[in-house]
Amino acid sequence: MAIKPIEYSNGVCRMIDQRLLPAQEVWLDYTDYQGVAEAIQTMVVRGAPAIGVAAAFGAAFAADAIDASDFADFEAQFIPCCQVLAATRPTAVNLFWALERMQRVARENQSLPLAQLKKRLLAEAVEIAAEDERINRAMGQYGQVLFPEQGRILTHCNAGALATGGYGTALGVIRAAIKAGKQIEVYADETRPFWQGARLTAWELQQDNIPVTVICDNMAGYLMQQGKIDAVIVGADRIAANGDVANKIGTYTVAVLAKEHGIPFYVAAPLSTIDLSLSDGSQIPIEERDGREVTHCGEVQLAPDGVAVYNPAFDVTPARLVTAIITEQGIVQGDYVAGLRSLMSYST
Ligand code: MRU
Repeated sequence: MAIKPIEYSNGVCRMIDQRLLPAQEVWLDYTDYQGVAEAIQTMVVRGAPAIGVAAAFGAAFAADAIDASDFADFEAQFIPCCQVLAATRPTAVNLFWALERMQRVARENQSLPLAQLKKRLLAEAVEIAAEDERINRAMGQYGQVLFPEQGRILTHCNAGALATGGYGTALGVIRAAIKAGKQIEVYADETRPFWQGARLTAWELQQDNIPVTVICDNMAGYLMQQGKIDAVIVGADRIAANGDVANKIGTYTVAVLAKEHGIPFYVAAPLSTIDLSLSDGSQIPIEERDGREVTHCGEVQLAPDGVAVYNPAFDVTPARLVTAIITEQGIVQGDYVAGLRSLMSYST
């Protein structure tokens, strides 16, 4: 059973503090939207779908705290809270998707008495979380057929259970392949500077007894050259209408290497990660994070005081380097513009 990073019960949202894994398994409790916003911003919770799930609970908590005379009054207080949640991180579109869905559900149920509207919004957040896990399992079924019976699969960052409502996107496909009886071994890029691969992917795969080997990011090319990688699979933070994929910094490098070595490069992502409003990846906002993540590893200083640092958290892989995009509604290959548009007709 893969871990779920966000659990809700009786007015409390518990999140495993992903900053502390794998050394410590600490669960933090959240009961208001400000706390949830801080959890997203400070990376207690991370990964595009998980950020969306957390934001939905944040919006439900915000709604619950509102005292309003009518729906217009409610919305005038609710929307600024959603804006606070939306301002936490810019790249993963699932955050905005979840908040828009919560606002839409509020509007659709505006005739309900306030107490019932609040319950309806909480139910929607619970549904977004449960639906995300179902989506990942469906994605796994579609995607696993792409893997060989015996395969060494490279992944970058953490697109696992920890990054979602459960099961994972890229790691969900790996889990489904193993369930289908395939012999899969995973290579996990460490994923500097936040170490999602070394800390999180390695931890959650170990928990499930899935064979995993951690490599430094700069070793991927060597392994490919040695014939030790059969396929690459990653998640995504936002996919533009033409199939360009924003994902954790370093993903583009891996995609270029895969192309050079004739290795398939797969992206697994739910429809909530696809942003048809952007025609190509150059329009995707790329988060820039604190330089300390680069100059330090925890408390250990790696670079001299005062040195210039650049720390973009994501990069964009052009669609031409992507062999296929795996979603919960099927696989898109080749003509991404038409394929993604057609799949998005199933979007909630
Ligand atoms: O900065 P993070 O850890 O939130 O970045 C996460 C990633 O880039 C993941 O690969 C992506 O969100 C897909 S998670 C299913």
